[in-house]
Amino acid sequence: MTNIRNIMILTGAGVSAESGIDTFRDSGGLWEKHRVEDVATPEAFARDPELVLRFYDMRRAAIQTKQPNAAHAALARLEAEWAKRVPGGTVTLVTQNVDDLHDRAGSRNLIHMHGEHLNAWCTACDERVPWRAPLLDRPACPACGVPALRPDIVWFGEMPYRMEDIYGALREADLFVSIGTSGAVYPAAGLVRGARDIGARTLELNLEPSQGSAWFDEARHGPATQVVPAWAEEMLSGG
Ligand code: APR
Repeated sequence: MTNIRNIMILTGAGVSAESGIDTFRDSGGLWEKHRVEDVATPEAFARDPELVLRFYDMRRAAIQTKQPNAAHAALARLEAEWAKRVPGGTVTLVTQNVDDLHDRAGSRNLIHMHGEHLNAWCTACDERVPWRAPLLDRPACPACGVPALRPDIVWFGEMPYRMEDIYGALREADLFVSIGTSGAVYPAAGLVRGARDIGARTLELNLEPSQGSAWFDEARHGPATQVVPAWAEEMLSGG
């Protein structure tokens, strides 16, 4: 792939699947075991906060026992080495994932558009604070002391984070790569069309064709820990 300076990468749950974190819509996925309406909307939190807090406490504890995999590592390496190969070139990583595996793998130019498990958000003082412990027992906010902490997760019906930054990076992209996402949830699923509109090349790396696969110039199907390192190596070696 020549003439590529700025790369924008969108990841989803599939990139963390081989680290042992459930995806949402695959067989045996989270949304088969839990109803979105019960655990992932502001209405659900108002109706039954205990059910919602218990769900996220379980997931927050689980991700702390998982490790980044070869796909996370390859993306961090690509970011670290791309500017050496293409002076002034950028790699922007936008993730829908709320785990911290990209962060722990070393990705830095990283946007968590759906929030983060390891943060809590105080609905009294609007502070976001690093948080690893359960929230079920309604602990006090470290900033204001009010027991008004909720998971810092973008629930259905809420606006994703940093959309201005995401669209800004998209406008500069020469290559848009989607990894491990089903393309079921907007606005993330619409980014590929935005990329096409500005003339960027589009590539899908996924276990199987996603709902948006028709929008991609190229697709490579297989487990992320295989297709992502191979693709990153190809980019860094000028293939
Ligand atoms: N390697 C590559 N891709 C994989 C792997 C793997 N090992 N395992 C699964 N996949 C692919 C699946 O084929 C599927 O297309 O990852 C995708 C996972 O899709 P979803 O479970 O729908 O997850 P995602 O696209 O990230 O969901 C988007 O929906 O539930 C909300 O807010 C939540 O961020 C999430 C959003």
